[in-house]
Formats: sequence, structure tokens, C-alpha cells
Amino acid sequence: SVEAVMDARPPVVTVMGHVDHGKTSLLDYIRRSRVASGEAGGITQHIGAYHVETPRGMVTFLDTPGHEAFTAMRARGAKATDIVILVVSADDGVMPQTIEAIHHAKAGNVPIVVAINKVDKPEAQPERVKSELVSHEVVPEEYGGEVMFREVSAKTGKGIDELLEAILLQAEVLELQAPKNTPAKGLVIEGRLDKGRGPVTTVLVQSGVLRRGDMVLAGTAFGRVRAMLDENGEDIKEAGPSIPVEVLGLSDVPSAGEEVIVLNDERKAREIALFRQGKFRDVKLAKQQA
Ligand code: GTP
Ligand code: NA
Ligand code: MG
Repeated sequence: SVEAVMDARPPVVTVMGHVDHGKTSLLDYIRRSRVASGEAGGITQHIGAYHVETPRGMVTFLDTPGHEAFTAMRARGAKATDIVILVVSADDGVMPQTIEAIHHAKAGNVPIVVAINKVDKPEAQPERVKSELVSHEVVPEEYGGEVMFREVSAKTGKGIDELLEAILLQAEVLELQAPKNTPAKGLVIEGRLDKGRGPVTTVLVQSGVLRRGDMVLAGTAFGRVRAMLDENGEDIKEAGPSIPVEVLGLSDVPSAGEEVIVLNDERKAREIALFRQGKFRDVKLAKQQA
């Protein structure tokens, strides 16, 4: 086995908060594209994964839905992440999914950066949002706490550079590292069945480098990586730590949150996948895996 050489890696940042507080709009502004308006009804239904080049380095963003029904997805987002951006609408204030997001972040020991959004609105009350968050133990630096708060507008772009700076500052403190010279490991962010392309799996690489042609085990699915696409649908040959990629070529659609590993041994990858599907009958391997 190879000794791991650690390298700096980009931060993975999950955007969380109550429904319609502007998470997707914020990411949309950062990416200067049209994600929120492209969504059916502007309702986020899945975790979107994007990486963005900023003047101070790359950042990977995971978007999550604020709707009540998506608790598990937010929990997975919190698990996959280094930093949570907690988006709170300045006119609406702290709401149930704001509080839930705080709980996910705290349970995962993930630092929070607060984005008080929609400050362009005449009815915005950023000071009220601050005191509401203090009562949930999210305390801004100006009140003696440790949490960076930034006032932003995803509509006008106000404060977004400052928010990015806060994220990169927080990331520096974390001194994020991962090995690059090892077989890739990662997490399934999302899996779906595409009519033409078969199982399409969004994988967040967490360590090592995932390459086209690698034999992958992803929960109950396995297969050789036939193609990898970035979030813009561009073909890529490899993806390093903190990079999200769409992987084609798996046998099945794995579940979000499942671990992804590269195994050189195809037979073993198949056996483990089948065992996890409850189809494997070899008692010896079953015992090894138990
Ligand atoms: P879910 O994914 O459904 O939880 O919503 P979301 O948090 O991603 O919110 P989304 O970006 O879909 O925005 C909800 C609505 O708020 C949209 O109509 C946006 O145009 C609007 N909005 C978002 N940010 C701002 C802002 O800074 N100012 C104003 N005035 N409106 C905003
Ligand atoms: Na929305
Ligand atoms: Mg959204």
C-alpha cells in the first residue's frame, strides 16, 4: 500500500436554511448562471453540487432544499461538508428549517457562516435575525461569539464578495487536507436513472483521485467508470478531493450518502455489491463482511 501524501484541498460548503430564504439564488449569483429560475417552480428537490473558482481558490458548494420533507437530504449535506452557510431571510427571520439546519451543523461539528439574505427588501430586519440566532446559540463576532455573519442580497449581489471572503477565511482556519496519491474515496450525493445513459451517480470525491476506467464500489452498486462529467456536462478524465462529478457506468443507482471506494479487484467489487444487495451466498465472504 502507498503512503498517503497530504495535499491542501478546497472546502466543501453546504448551503442550508428555510424554504425560499434564497439558497439557490445565492449560489446562482455566485455562479452567475440561472439555476433557481431553471428549477421547476423554484423548488429545490435534490442536492446540487457545483465547484466555483474564486480569486482565492476553489470552493465546492452543495445546495439543499429547505422544504420540510427533505430532512434526510439536509442531514446528508451536513455530513458531506466542511462549512455550512446558513441562509436566513432578513424579512422572514429564523424559521423551523433554519433551526433544523443549526442542529445538523452542530451535530456534525461543522462551523456555520451566516448569510442574512434579502437585505435589499424594505422590510428587512437584519438586527432582529441576529438576536433570534443568538437565542439558538449562533452568536455573531460583534456579540462576543465566533460565528461570522454577512448581510447579503442574492438579488443585487450586495455583500456576496464579503460572504465568499468569510467562507475562505473559515476554510483557512480548518487547514483542509486530503491525500491525492491514493485510490479515490467519496460519497454518493445523488443517484438517478437516466433513460439513455443508465445509472448516473453524483459523487463527491473526498480523498484520492477518481479516474475514468476505475473500478468503483458505491454501496450496493459497482462498475467501471465509463465517463465522468462536471456540473456543466463537460467530459473530465479525473477528479481530485472536494470535486463533485457525475459518474456513468455503475451497475445500479446507489443511495445518497453511501460510501464510494475504488477497488482494483472487479470480482471483489461485484461480490461485495451483491452481498450488500442480499444476493451473495458465500458464507465465508459474508462473515468477512459482517
Ligand atoms: P428552496 O430550495 O425551495 O428551499 O428555496 P431557496 O432557499 O433555494 O430559495 P430560492 O433561491 O428559490 O428563492 C426564493 C425566492 O426568493 C425567489 O423568488 C427569489 O427570487 C427570491 N429571493 C432570493 N434571494 C433574494 C434577495 O436577496 N432579495 C429578494 N428581494 N428576493 C430574493
Ligand atoms: Na425556492
Ligand atoms: Mg433552492
